Amino acid sequence: MKQLLLLFAMMLFSSNSKVMAEVPANAGKTLMVYYSYTGNCREIVTTLTSQIEADVLEIQPAEKGLRYEANGYALGTELLNAINANPDDINSYPAIDPVSTSLNDYQNIIIVTPLWWSQMAAIMQTHLFQSASEMSGKHVGMIVSSHSSSIGGVVRDAKRLLPDVTWMGDALWINANNHGRRASLIENWLGTLNFAEEQTTMDKMYITIGEQTESVTLVGNNATKALMEKLKQAPVTVSLNSSGGFEIWGSLGFSLPTSNEQINAQPGDVILYNGSNICIFYGTNSWSYTRLGKIDGLNESELRSFLKAGESNISVTLSLSSGETGLTPNLSTEGDGNIYSLSGQRIAKPSHGIYIKNNKKVKL
Ligand SMILES: Cc1cc2nc3c(=O)[nH]c(=O)nc-3n(C[C@H](O)[C@H](O)[C@H](O)COP(=O)(O)O)c2cc1C
Repeated sequence: MKQLLLLFAMMLFSSNSKVMAEVPANAGKTLMVYYSYTGNCREIVTTLTSQIEADVLEIQPAEKGLRYEANGYALGTELLNAINANPDDINSYPAIDPVSTSLNDYQNIIIVTPLWWSQMAAIMQTHLFQSASEMSGKHVGMIVSSHSSSIGGVVRDAKRLLPDVTWMGDALWINANNHGRRASLIENWLGTLNFAEEQTTMDKMYITIGEQTESVTLVGNNATKALMEKLKQAPVTVSLNSSGGFEIWGSLGFSLPTSNEQINAQPGDVILYNGSNICIFYGTNSWSYTRLGKIDGLNESELRSFLKAGESNISVTLSLSSGETGLTPNLSTEGDGNIYSLSGQRIAKPSHGIYIKNNKKVKL
């Protein structure tokens, strides 16, 4: 009887709920970005949203009512020819409606695009060209819909337009023959993707160099979890050296768990290299790294000055947001309303960080 009840409950559950694809429980937020001229990609997105939790963004051409297929696909061909002639110039791409969705909140992006003449539809190419830098570092997957042509050219376009993303897996091809079976194709495909981890816990770490302390927003992964545990015990001071004109780096003196992937490091990025080295970037470099976090709110020249770019044996202290830097404040001088560093020096123009004011640690 118990078994019958269980079976009944399971049937009830499966008939009333979405067919949820096997996406890891800790996957980060996903955005689906699509363009559809004749409705097939829209149907694919509807199927996708029945299988995973994701927000949806539709890309629309600025000029409405155009018939890309008229006169033997003349307009569609013309738009692609213009892009192919000058792919690095924004003026080669057809105008699209402005997009207000910020990609900051999303770790995963799924592109759904039609194929036009064995290439990515021109309207979607415009969007990717415009948002390439915002998409940098995201995990990206792609579904391509065509009548019958295979999708190698669309994959090439996507890689040209988005050089700095992490591809979640192979693109999925849906065509006129299998469009009706898209639900199972999509479900299987979603199960193969490498989704980025959730980043709900935006923990902070602090970096102190000389008199200046800056906050770092950490990503949520096993490396930062282990680093937080280490810093809970005591701040860590390391000696870093400038290298390559883009970073200061050196040994942490201990190892952290790695989840290396090709990363195009940007100014402010704090990164783990080879499991036991910390790299802090004031320039850019592409390598296989594990991301730790990013220094908050400093531009490139502020980063160069903070990180003492070009110098050697730079003493860098990593600590937690509690303000433990390992330095002992000189409280006797600090009850006068002025701002003092943790080592007791008066700071006329403090930047972001932890200071002493009226005998108390304050975060500015
Ligand atoms: C301008 C244009 C060019 C196309 N070129 C091809 C092609 O070369 N090969 C192909 O198989 N399908 C081609 N198609 C068909 C679309 O790829 C296919 O119908 C797709 O499902 C459309 O997606 P949508 O309905 O979301 O716009 C083309 C469609 C258009 C509008």
